[in-house]
Amino acid sequence: MAQQHTPSGHEKIETSNFLMIVLILLAVAVGGLVEIVPLFFQRSTTQPVEGLKPYTPLQLAGRDVYIREGCYNCHSQMVRPFRAEALRYGQLSVAGEFVYDYPFQWGSKRTGPDLHRVGGKYSDEWHRVHLINPRDLVPESNMPAYPWLVTGVVDDKSIGQRMKALQTLGVPYTDAEVAAAAEQVKGKSEMDALIAYLQVLGTARK
Ligand code: HEC
Repeated sequence: MAQQHTPSGHEKIETSNFLMIVLILLAVAVGGLVEIVPLFFQRSTTQPVEGLKPYTPLQLAGRDVYIREGCYNCHSQMVRPFRAEALRYGQLSVAGEFVYDYPFQWGSKRTGPDLHRVGGKYSDEWHRVHLINPRDLVPESNMPAYPWLVTGVVDDKSIGQRMKALQTLGVPYTDAEVAAAAEQVKGKSEMDALIAYLQVLGTARK
């Protein structure tokens, strides 16, 4: 005589596409929320580390050049919590160092080295020569050359607006700083701006 088979709760779920999909979505959603939501309220992820300053207008313009040129395709900006990283790059990165970064430039691809602690590592002149032609300094480098940054001029007309946009996101620029921004970057080359940006990277905690 065939034995009567009553499906267990588990079996009911595993044999129903519908239940399976709904419950997986539920589990992933709850798990995700539990991990992510606290990050919006924790001090360590929302408060600037001591000594962190918003980018100056010139550094900010340089940051825009960094994004435009796609430097993040080859460079990360995050020293990850491993001993080898600390030995190679310096202090590990913490979230409070990035609270004025919109959007952050953590990156994930490292064709070149991490740049989070590159500020102050080389002279401005080193960066200038390196960006014009990396092979002049590092013969085996496969980093592209960016000679046009020397003649490219920073757009002083829009810098105030860009700072205003950041103000709305919580970056503490004063209205006086916004008003004075255009004057500060007027006539500066994109090379000057990019180097100013590179030189401040990671320096708040160095
Ligand atoms: C195709 C990948 C690639 C791109 C794109 C790229 N780089 Fe690089 N970068 C490298 C490699 C590889 C090195 C290591 C060799 C060298 O120093 O040239 C490097 C090295 C560097 C260094 C020296 C870091 C150190 O600690 O020695 C800096 C600074 C740098 N890049 C800045 C930039 C900037 C700024 C941009 C965008 C304008 C950029 N890179 C775009 C690949 C890239």
